Amino acid sequence: MSNIETINKLKNEQSASRRELTALLQTITDDERELLRQAAQKTAQAVFGNKIFIRGLIEFTSYCKNDCRYCGLRRSNKNAVRYRLSEEQIMSCCKAGYSLGFRTFVLQGGEDAFFTDEVMCGIVSAIKREYPDCAVTLSLGERSEDSLRRLFEAGADRYLLRHETADEAHYARLHPPGMSGAHRKALLYRLKEIGYQTGAGFMVGSPYQTFENLADDLLFIKELSPQMCGIGPFVPHRDTEFGNMPAGDLKLTLTLLSVIRLMNPRILLPATTALGTIHPNGRELGVLHGANVVMPNLSPAEHRKDYALYDNKICTGDEAAECIRCLSRRMEKTGYKIVCERGDYQ
Ligand code: 5AD
Ligand code: FES
Repeated sequence: MSNIETINKLKNEQSASRRELTALLQTITDDERELLRQAAQKTAQAVFGNKIFIRGLIEFTSYCKNDCRYCGLRRSNKNAVRYRLSEEQIMSCCKAGYSLGFRTFVLQGGEDAFFTDEVMCGIVSAIKREYPDCAVTLSLGERSEDSLRRLFEAGADRYLLRHETADEAHYARLHPPGMSGAHRKALLYRLKEIGYQTGAGFMVGSPYQTFENLADDLLFIKELSPQMCGIGPFVPHRDTEFGNMPAGDLKLTLTLLSVIRLMNPRILLPATTALGTIHPNGRELGVLHGANVVMPNLSPAEHRKDYALYDNKICTGDEAAECIRCLSRRMEKTGYKIVCERGDYQ
């Protein structure tokens, strides 16, 4: 089957096989990618019009007990600067964010034992009390099912947990012994059952990744059918063993955004910070390829550089929440409009 035939299948919401998806990702030409892009943009516009949803990202702790091999915040990185925000600091990020127009706050952090269920539930309920019209999204890594339930009951609406790679052998090469891809995927199903709007996702171009792995990621997303999917290029971090590996490819990431949009028309799909890091117009390009969400940084300015998942993470310019106007202008030039809405999955 030719790539054009695969693209037509995707456009018509017919399922494409692992083999077809692998071939498409591996051999797509620039002209074919443009056809794919136009179809993905049309699908996104049919669902969301020209609206782009924004999420205020609050990176509230750089402590992590995990040791993911690609990540700059891994426990064994002794050069990482560690910080933790207090509840008051988190609330003042929300306050600043609310007046800028944010109606979703994403609390993201490493797996930090300081933030017990009691502490986290306190923070979530304080935000929901103060801002009942806002959604709270958690991105705290793996927690017990009981803990996830308690946080949901405290008012959390959404949970982001990237599966990183659907292939368990590949997962094992990116993570220390003891972490399991199967467990992570199972947790994503639990999150959906609990009632969270759930986000999965993966890195593009992570070490040892094959095109088959990416096809499996696409098929996993289709099967799980999450409300959100976060993808971005792998970007090396100098203090990790992958520090000299190449970053993920821009065009491949854009191709994947378009395929995800066509396979899951209503999914909430961010143009991520990592995409903005590998190309100055990465996030606009993401939107043009079918993304419909951006997540500016609301963390206190003095800590942003220390939430270093990878090198050169953008954190002083237009990606920052204070510069929401510059971002709006950039999106308007692209024909889109940033809206102040919760932006729930419909
Ligand atoms: N490059 C790109 N993305 C990374 N993440 C962690 N480390 C890196 C890296 N070096 C992503 C992971 C994680 C999310 C919070 O950040 O996918 O789930
Ligand atoms: Fe925990 Fe990266 S290893 S945040």
